[in-house]
Amino acid sequence: MSTLLKEGLPQGTSILLVGPPGSGKTSLCLQLALEGIREGCEALYLTTESTPTNILAHAQGVGLFQKDDTTGTKIKFIDAYSWAIGMRKDEYAIDRINNPSDINKVSLVIMNQAQILSPRSLVIVDSVSGLTLASQKKERIRNFIHVLAHRILRQGNRVVFVLEEGAHDMATINSLRSLVQGTIFTRIIDRDGCPLRRELRILSFIGASPKTSWMEMVLGNEGLQLEGG
Ligand SMILES: Nc1ncnc2c1ncn2[C@@H]1O[C@H](COP(=O)(O)OP(=O)(O)OP(=O)(O)O)[C@@H](O)[C@H]1O
Ligand SMILES: [Mg+2]
Repeated sequence: MSTLLKEGLPQGTSILLVGPPGSGKTSLCLQLALEGIREGCEALYLTTESTPTNILAHAQGVGLFQKDDTTGTKIKFIDAYSWAIGMRKDEYAIDRINNPSDINKVSLVIMNQAQILSPRSLVIVDSVSGLTLASQKKERIRNFIHVLAHRILRQGNRVVFVLEEGAHDMATINSLRSLVQGTIFTRIIDRDGCPLRRELRILSFIGASPKTSWMEMVLGNEGLQLEGG
């Protein structure tokens, strides 16, 4: 088991979370957010692929919190999804982004909300790929991550940037890795006759000796379990 994630993300950490669709990136973000909230920190969650309401339902669906547990509702959502599909701002959103391809504006909205969080809070951008679909310019993605990571770390908070593996070439992903302190890859394993498995591996973690082998992610109310590796 990895102590790195078992004890949550260390203070002042910036992470790139990379994986194909369905490999558990959103679920892992929610797990980390809920663990932080239970320890008294806050979580700011920017969503581009789904409404905050659906994300909370998803967290409940994978067993991260129970119906009578209000932990999930303490996540502060920035809704960068509903505008694009012509919906009203979601009831759980504290702010919304009307043009997700304007990443300078997105950066500003995140910074404004992040500066009123309590220290050691977790900022999640799920996903950078969803924001930049309309403008997949490598330099803009690079600049977005670079500036935001720097500012969030300076505030004493932590940040996770989610990247859709298929949406960027490997050279781009590798170049982005130098902008953050750690990179986590997720994958989905589909073997005949076996239930689907979601696995992760931790690469290039500054200040720690990472485990680069794949480990199964078992999510749950009691915390993240990493098995094998
Ligand atoms: N560790 C896990 N163990 C078992 N099931 C999981 C795990 N993580 C995710 N799942 C299941 O896999 C599905 C997809 O997970 P999730 O939405 O977190 O993936 P994702 O990588 O964010 O996908 P996308 O790229 O489409 O946003 C979820 O509906 C959930 O039921
Ligand atoms: Mg997702």
